[in-house]
This record gives sequence, structure tokens and C-alpha cells, in this order.
Amino acid sequence: MYNFYYLTLFPAIINTYFSESIMRRSIDNHILQIHSIDIRDFSSNKHNRVDDYPYGGGAGMIMQAPPIIKAIESIENHQKTPVIFLTPSGIPFNIQECKKLALKLKKSKQFIFLCGHYEGIDQRVIDRYVTDEYSIGDYVLTGGELPALVMSDSIMRQIGGVLGNNESLKEESFENNLLEYPQYTRPQMVEDMPVPDVLLSGNHAKIKEWRKKRATEITEMKRPDLIKLKNNLKS
Ligand code: ADE
Repeated sequence: MYNFYYLTLFPAIINTYFSESIMRRSIDNHILQIHSIDIRDFSSNKHNRVDDYPYGGGAGMIMQAPPIIKAIESIENHQKTPVIFLTPSGIPFNIQECKKLALKLKKSKQFIFLCGHYEGIDQRVIDRYVTDEYSIGDYVLTGGELPALVMSDSIMRQIGGVLGNNESLKEESFENNLLEYPQYTRPQMVEDMPVPDVLLSGNHAKIKEWRKKRATEITEMKRPDLIKLKNNLKS
């Protein structure tokens, strides 16, 4: 059983996602337990404020350290738990990082995701409590909840038992640094578009070869950077 803790100002975003998605299955099957923790519950301010103006001036509000620290410290075994902060300044999250984190999760059994809001959080939380900083892409979102969900979803897919069929991991995009080959299902004819003949041939070796070829062509066309990576890994 793995435990994911989300420190957030919007616990409903996290709860809603897990109540509706395929990820719900892993909760029902006792593979995963999620805990969304409202940082506001740890405010000592009578209006439940958790942000303040930046020292030195500037636009926007900064999330204060004390409520976040108290929220982290409320988590059992937090000293031994990776604390992942979602930020555009983090290292880029990709399939390699995802696999590394899945291995890390197998050891630690739990992760804490710290979801920021406003213009940032007090650096002292990061300096003392955060173990990993990740960005899910070079754009800025309004908060860390979506990145935390993106990361947890893809990490859990790497852990056995979340997907019904572990074969789907081997075949999917980014395995061997190739994008996925095209897929077809019934009906055999859609408007004037037939299914490629080879897929109806029943010749499994030929089908495998065709899929590899299409995956390579598609990757060369859409993501030449992945082909370069693949060649570098080989040499
Ligand atoms: N918070 C805001 N934007 C983000 C991004 N691109 N990645 C991770 N966390 C974020």
C-alpha cells in the first residue's frame, strides 16, 4: 500500500480527480491511499490567512512558511518521506524521472506533494523540507495541483497493479524512446479509409515489423529529439 499526501489550498481538486478516474481502482484495490491536506487548517491567523507580501517588495503574494511546515510535520514518518514541490523552476518531469520516482516510491512507500499557489512559497520551506522540485513543462500554471496529479498518475501507472494489463506499459509511447504505432478497431472501413491490410493478415511477425516501422517513422517526423536520444543511449 502506497500513501500519497497532497498539501494544498484546494483539497477538492485532488479528491475529485481520484473519485472519478481510473486511479480510483487502485484506491478501491488498496494499492494506493490518498490524503489531501488543507494547508489553511494549519494557519494560526484568525482569518485563516496563509499568504503575505514579499519581503523586498514586488507583485503577488507569497505562501507563508509556518502553516506549510506544520502541515508537513503532521504527516507520520515525514522525515523519511520525499517531499516533492511542484514548480516551473523544478527539473523537467519525463518518463525517465517518472521511473526513478516509481523506484523511490517502492522504497519509501509514501510521497508528499507540496502544491504551491500565488506567486510562490517562502524559500525556507524549500531549503529545509523539500527533497525534489519538478516542473511538468515550460509554462506557468495557477497552482501545483494539476502537476501533482499528472506526476502521481504517471508514477502509479509504473507500479504494478494499477493498469489491468502490464503489457500496455511495454507497448506504449516512450518505451525504447519511440512514440506509439497507430491503432485501429472495427469497423474495417471508416468513410473511405480502410484498415491497413497487414493488420488483417494474421501474420504476427509482419504485423510486429510494420508497427516498429510506423513507430520509427512517426517518431522521426514528430519527435526527432527522441531518435537522437535513442542513438546516444546506444553509443
Ligand atoms: N506550478 C505552476 N506551473 C507549474 C509547472 N509548469 N510545473 C510544475 N509546477 C507548476
